[in-house]
Amino acid sequence: MDLPYRPRRLRRTEAIRSLVRETSLRPGSLIYPMFIIEGEGIREPIETMPGQFRVSIDQLVKEGKELLDLGIPAVNLFGYCEKKDEAATEAYNPDGLIPQAVRALKKDCPELCVQTDVALDPYSVHGHDGLVVDDEVVNDETVEVLCKMSLVHAEAGVDWVAPSDMMDGRVGAIRIALDNGGYDHVGILAYSAKYASCFYGPFRGALKSAPKKGDKKSYQMDPANVREALKEIALDIDEGADVVMIKPALAYLDVIAAARAEFDVPIAAYSVSGEFSMVMLAAQQGLIDGEAAMMEILHAIRRAGADMILTYWAKDAARLLG
Ligand code: PBG
Repeated sequence: MDLPYRPRRLRRTEAIRSLVRETSLRPGSLIYPMFIIEGEGIREPIETMPGQFRVSIDQLVKEGKELLDLGIPAVNLFGYCEKKDEAATEAYNPDGLIPQAVRALKKDCPELCVQTDVALDPYSVHGHDGLVVDDEVVNDETVEVLCKMSLVHAEAGVDWVAPSDMMDGRVGAIRIALDNGGYDHVGILAYSAKYASCFYGPFRGALKSAPKKGDKKSYQMDPANVREALKEIALDIDEGADVVMIKPALAYLDVIAAARAEFDVPIAAYSVSGEFSMVMLAAQQGLIDGEAAMMEILHAIRRAGADMILTYWAKDAARLLG
């Protein structure tokens, strides 16, 4: 062709831009992570995460209805726990906060997909995701506890358990435990490629769950690696994961894209607390347009190849999407 092609023709109006838009974002792809606290009528602002709250179960149920009204199909629950001990026993208390929260939600918002975090860090004095013996996070002993925890959540009626601990072999072990317990309908959202990231800082503030000693690098992944992520994902699929997750999202878009190219399973991405708070604080300072940043980030995560996104912006984005 002699004339230079003019790509700007397809960017002239919003109508045209809408027609050629390659990536869609809808409330139906969003999962809202929530922090649950004991008590009643509690809606406690989280200092490290502007606009997020620790809520009691009665408030959670209200929020559940609001989420459904907004078209958001799922919540992912984290428990705020003061009864921490060495063995994280509260993690698998059948009458604990999270099982109670699951029961309440499934009773009053049965259409909501209720998901629970499975890891020991909010419940252990040391703040590690597994059991600690002689300063080591021990694998197989931890997996046994994670199976107990998953069964307690399943018994309470959870739709998906979400192991976020990065122990080896836990997806397979949890799958077998669930199946043997009569919970073959309960899904596993596996944190397959979870990196040892500084972006979890605000979350650890929200749950007072920062490790007291050492770091999580012996189980969470090295941010420098991508081949290893594909290996982890392949293992989890093999062990029976229904959905695999990459976490964090924003600094790991290449990992999401690589996983999308390689695997034919649903992929989740977790836009974590640090990604959220960074934008919120910059917006509060007037440095960036917070709403625009939110939409740009969420579209980028979808463009990279994630089917679903765990995001603290779920409600704000859904409202904007209308
Ligand atoms: C703990 C867990 C963490 C997050 C989800 N599950 C923190 C960690 O691994 O230390 C982080 C979520 C966020 O930062 O929003 N198993």
